[in-house]
Amino acid sequence: MTASIKRIAISTGGGDAPGLNAVIRSVVLAAAQRGWECYGIREGFNGILLPDRYPHNGVTRLTADQVRGIGHLGGTILGTTNHGNPLRFATTMPDGSVQEINRSADIHAYLKKMDIDALVCIGGDGTLTIAHALHLQGLRVVGVPKTIDNDLDKTFTTFGFDTAVSFATECIDRLHSTAESHQRIMVVEVMGRYAGWIALHSGIAANAHAILIPEIPYDPEKIATMIKRRDENGRNYSIVLAAEGALAVNGLPMLQAAATAGHVERLGGIGERLAHDLQTMTGKEARAVVLGHLLRGGSPTAFDRLSAMRFGAAAVRALDEGHSGIMVALAFPNVNYVALEEVAGRMKAVPMDSDTLQTGRDIGICFGD
Ligand code: F6P
Repeated sequence: MTASIKRIAISTGGGDAPGLNAVIRSVVLAAAQRGWECYGIREGFNGILLPDRYPHNGVTRLTADQVRGIGHLGGTILGTTNHGNPLRFATTMPDGSVQEINRSADIHAYLKKMDIDALVCIGGDGTLTIAHALHLQGLRVVGVPKTIDNDLDKTFTTFGFDTAVSFATECIDRLHSTAESHQRIMVVEVMGRYAGWIALHSGIAANAHAILIPEIPYDPEKIATMIKRRDENGRNYSIVLAAEGALAVNGLPMLQAAATAGHVERLGGIGERLAHDLQTMTGKEARAVVLGHLLRGGSPTAFDRLSAMRFGAAAVRALDEGHSGIMVALAFPNVNYVALEEVAGRMKAVPMDSDTLQTGRDIGICFGD
């Protein structure tokens, strides 16, 4: 028999994604329905691990009043960080060097002191790996899948993805007319880390002429040939959509910054590189547009808002039913639970037999292969 719950805490970790506030609202309201108190940890776990940073408390009480009217807002009212992993917490040592220290014991001690019985961790692969580790150490934890990248396994989709794809689609729609007016190549770079979901979905929705994703290494000659063929057919502009993690055959993804203690590597730069190369290869003027963090901002779409609300309520339900070490997931048409161990440390890439990918091939989109 699992001990009953009176207090829970919420943590939002990793890059922000539209829908985080909707999850927070849903968790707080569903917890309140059960008579549970809810607390919010600031910026991942920093609210616990770096208390001096937060003069007004690194962990704050969240009541129904405090989450009123936040469901449609982008970002997270708790703040987030993608360099605050408590299992490898970047710490400056007395000799000035920075080392990664496991500080999970501090989280357990804090939650025990505060009589917090369970944790809802909202995040992507990094956060859910932390959630899994905390669960193995004896904490009651439920994960909620968040990321614009949609690269989490065992869920049909993550919240944030639909909003990112919708916005990228609108941006590419707008680029068609300016590219056509100037007879240019427009290379659009979108986020997604090592998976091509955002590029694939928005590229097909917005009629990109080439889509380059990490799962399919590209040959620049193939893209140049496609552009020249379009020109010969009187279609003298082209839109090339590149995922930030896309790579040439025998190449590597382009980096903005290498990994350092507490920081993962930062991808980016392929847009400019490709625009330069394609201009040289085709003799046509090319421009690069990087959509970057614009894809993470703004109000969540109705789909993301609804998924977020369903995930939040399901997370509380799961705790109430005595579950721990699970992630709530979308398994159309329902939300189900999957073991965190099946998700932690795994990445969902675009499968080569994907119907969406096949659709792109069927309608003649160039994938650079
Ligand atoms: O994982 C979400 C994401 O937006 C990736 O698509 C991107 O590579 C990364 O985060 C960027 O992170 P940062 O906020 O550190 O620039």
